[in-house]
Amino acid sequence: MIDLNVNGSRLQAEVGKDTPLLWVLRDHLKLTGTKFGCGEGLCGACTVLIDGKPQRACITPVGDVLGATITTIEGIPENHPVKQAWLAQEVSQCGYCQPGQVVSAVALLAQKPKPNDADIDRAMSGNLCRCGTYGRIRRAIHVASGKPAAKGGKKS
Ligand code: FES
Ligand code: FES
Repeated sequence: MIDLNVNGSRLQAEVGKDTPLLWVLRDHLKLTGTKFGCGEGLCGACTVLIDGKPQRACITPVGDVLGATITTIEGIPENHPVKQAWLAQEVSQCGYCQPGQVVSAVALLAQKPKPNDADIDRAMSGNLCRCGTYGRIRRAIHVASGKPAAKGGKKS
């Protein structure tokens, strides 16, 4: 039995310490917002925050995060500026990559409250989107940082 601190709650799971955190979250704790994409640390769909830093849950053995603070997409409040901006800018298309995108954006803004385009591109480069929502992601991050929404259509 392992103890984890997830989204402010102490949760337990009957798993080995080498089990990937992603499967503990999804299969044992039923926190299915965090997605499986590549399973190899390449796509960012499984991104969660470990002590505030974005990490790939698919390649993180759960034994490495005992005692850490884990935040999943479910732990980010609905009124968080990033979630609000995502909705306002209609970022999602199929939506599959978006939990990881949101989590990475939350970490970026916690570190750098007023990022420029280069900061955003650097911070978000590990989160792939097959639907190509990168322009809307960038815009939503600017909006979440307090910049007025840029003029122009939302669907780019
Ligand atoms: S599923 Fe973890 S990086 Fe792709
Ligand atoms: S919205 Fe479809 S993969 Fe990103």
